[in-house]
Amino acid sequence: MAVSRRIGHAIHAFDTVDSTQAVLARLAGDGAAEGTVVTARHQTAGRGRRGRQWWDTPGESVLMSVLLQPSLPTAQAPQLSLVAGLAVAEALAAAAGVAAQIRWPNDVLVGGRKVCGVLPEAVSRGDGRIGHVLLGIGINVDQSEFPPDLRHAATSLRLVTGTAHDQRQLLAAVLDALDRRYGEWLAGGFAELREEWRRWTSTLGERVRTGDGREGVAVDVDETGALLVDAGLDGLTRVVSQVGPAAS
Ligand code: BTN
Repeated sequence: MAVSRRIGHAIHAFDTVDSTQAVLARLAGDGAAEGTVVTARHQTAGRGRRGRQWWDTPGESVLMSVLLQPSLPTAQAPQLSLVAGLAVAEALAAAAGVAAQIRWPNDVLVGGRKVCGVLPEAVSRGDGRIGHVLLGIGINVDQSEFPPDLRHAATSLRLVTGTAHDQRQLLAAVLDALDRRYGEWLAGGFAELREEWRRWTSTLGERVRTGDGREGVAVDVDETGALLVDAGLDGLTRVVSQVGPAAS
């Protein structure tokens, strides 16, 4: 008997797009169902966090956006960053044999360099609940080099393992892991994933910056996915990750 799944039941695969986020935003506007996925071999205007560009070389990355429509308060949308980071780390272990780590909230690193970035963009409904989230995921798979400005911060699965990787298998592994972890999150919130997330992160014990520019040591993540930082103040400082608005 076929097991029904929320994520990946419909995959729109493109060669070149501006951004898979923009394509998925249009599909969402046309009434696409939750779990619809857009992939591309290349983006001409790939979006990163904080308005940055996301660089790729044609055919060498897994680039995808996933439409999520949880009927939850918008304040919970940032937790999807952590859900996605966990799913990607698990998928890289399962499909590529790579031991990755999550840097809070959602960068996936190997050997301290970024192999995957996650971009959640949310549309809120008038009542303060999530309308939909465009969950963008970019994985560096087959690059053998990066532009000078990324060289020290980025890596690819090929650089890490010395071999090529099957991108379809990787995509399937990420969608499987995301389907499972997203289902658990819907059922029990981040509290359900917290222990597992802690096992995959490199952030706890590291020095980090809080939102107001102070520095401190990340000591834990709470049941909402906020980072708890010891910044030398009375009590711990809670740092909440940000989710940008979805632009078309
Ligand atoms: C980051 O800055 O770390 C987030 C990068 C997210 C990149 C992915 S690639 C697929 C999707 N489409 C985009 O334009 N961006 C995301």
